[in-house]
Amino acid sequence: MKRPGNVITATLTTFTLLLCLSSVRGDYCEVNVCQNGGTCVTGVGEHPFICICADGFGGDTCNVTETGPCSPNPCTNDGTCEIVAPTRRGDVFNEYFCKCQPGFEGAHCQINVNDCVNEPCRNGGVCRDLDGDFTCHCPSPYVGKQCQLRCISLLGLEGGAIVDPQISASSVHYGILGLQRWGPELARLNNQGIVNAWTSAAQDRNPWIEINMQKKMRLTGVITQGASRMGTAEYIKAFKVASSFDGSSYTTYRVEGQRRDKVFVGNTDNDSTKTNLFDPPIIAQYIRIIPVVCRRACTLRMELVGCELNVYSNAAGCSEPLGMKSRLISDGQLSSSSTYRTWGIDTFTWHPQYARLDKQGKTNAWSPAHNNRSEWIQVDLEKTKRLTGIITQGAKDFGVVQFVSVFKVAYSSDGETWSVVKEENTSNDKLFQGNIDNNTQKKNLFEPPFYAQYVRVVPWEWHERITLRMELLGCDD
Ligand SMILES: *[C@@H]1O[C@H](CO)[C@@H](O)[C@H](O)[C@H]1NC(C)=O
Ligand SMILES: *[C@@H]1O[C@H](CO)[C@@H](O)[C@H](O)[C@H]1NC(C)=O
Ligand SMILES: *[C@@H]1O[C@H](CO)[C@@H](O)[C@H](O)[C@H]1NC(C)=O
Ligand SMILES: *[C@@H]1O[C@H](CO)[C@@H](O)[C@H](O)[C@H]1NC(C)=O
Ligand SMILES: *[C@@H]1O[C@H](CO)[C@@H](O)[C@H](O)[C@H]1NC(C)=O
Repeated sequence: MKRPGNVITATLTTFTLLLCLSSVRGDYCEVNVCQNGGTCVTGVGEHPFICICADGFGGDTCNVTETGPCSPNPCTNDGTCEIVAPTRRGDVFNEYFCKCQPGFEGAHCQINVNDCVNEPCRNGGVCRDLDGDFTCHCPSPYVGKQCQLRCISLLGLEGGAIVDPQISASSVHYGILGLQRWGPELARLNNQGIVNAWTSAAQDRNPWIEINMQKKMRLTGVITQGASRMGTAEYIKAFKVASSFDGSSYTTYRVEGQRRDKVFVGNTDNDSTKTNLFDPPIIAQYIRIIPVVCRRACTLRMELVGCELNVYSNAAGCSEPLGMKSRLISDGQLSSSSTYRTWGIDTFTWHPQYARLDKQGKTNAWSPAHNNRSEWIQVDLEKTKRLTGIITQGAKDFGVVQFVSVFKVAYSSDGETWSVVKEENTSNDKLFQGNIDNNTQKKNLFEPPFYAQYVRVVPWEWHERITLRMELLGCDD
């Protein structure tokens, strides 16, 4: 029997050559009788072995080169090649036709369609072209996929929707022998009266006032105003803003890409209002105004500007593909417990970066080194997002159909402590039903949705090998 290492013909590509040279390491059949990268499988029916051939090869031992207009695949960017019926011969591209992935066109899918060409971003949003999609960077206070929504509700300091116990401060100034209390609950825009604002205690070196909005909100701005006490104007000339999800760890606001805290310009007199916008908006439950420079005393009346998170992110509106397929999620954001290499060859590594829905190619999915329940693939979304669902897909490894049939999902805000998605109203881990073949997409919804920066898929049951392509669904909250 010929060993594949001896077979080097003119038709061999780099790919098959690599396979031949390393066939000694192959662990399929004792001597791999399949040539040109074919997979040898024993114990099937009455045959001593069968060969599953790599693309472009055929015959019992894969020694026959299948030549044709689609071998090798002339279509780029994951396009699929289809041989056209003889009746169509005579066309310019008469032998094959490239079926392109969304976002690509041209005879060989070589043109990346610019999805920004129709200027989909409204209200000054800046468009970025993706594979088959686009993303808008919206200026505050605009939000939404196309920056079409204005997030400018007054959140209720002046109107009263924010009630007194939601407002707290580092300290309080007591005036006139302690009879006047300039408490935080008075810090409401246009509040009237003799005592009509919050003032921090004179000895307070690190004053702050905080609003607990009782749930996560999107804040696009703050309106500030001073007050007058005993005929003298008092106000905050400059301030910082900090925010928190949980009321214990706080982030001081910075402009994107800046290393220093943003200092906002505040008031200049006792009565006029000053509006500052947060660009990008702040998503938080707790927001703190931290006076930096005060005139006479740190005295404040204020209003918060923003909107509910779910204005547009209800279950129906919050199911955008988050960018596995479109590559908005970049390779660096994907990682895994391990990776599998077919026949131990680096060229055929099943990287987590390949786990993109509908990816094509010889190695076109993630597969881990071992097939057990300690393996995972992880997506770092780079900021907290609302996750509402997942689409999964299997793949083929040189003809062998492989997929994940059951999986768990875990998520985290820091990449260190993880929560596993539970069955609704129980403490049991939710087992998501996955794929049944090499290509059909299976969609599962997260009910209820969750917020996270990191998401992990943990395969639980599989066919042949753990093999996964996927997309996450959700929105920017
Ligand atoms: C392929 O191998 C078979 C048996 O090993 C042989 O009979 C046949 O001639 C070979 N075909 C080619 C094209 O080399
Ligand atoms: C406060 O503002 C009002 C309205 O602008 C102005 O009439 C008044 O003189 C100001 N009072 C002080 C003490 O600055
Ligand atoms: C999974 O397989 C690896 C390698 O064989 C092993 O180290 C690990 O302990 C296994 N985990 C489980 C849960 O079996
Ligand atoms: C879970 O509990 C909530 C509130 O108790 C209830 O409305 C909902 O129907 C329950 N869901 C399931 C699947 O039992
Ligand atoms: C794999 O998926 C493709 C595309 O859906 C399908 O045509 C093919 O029959 C599948 N292969 C196997 C072996 O099931």
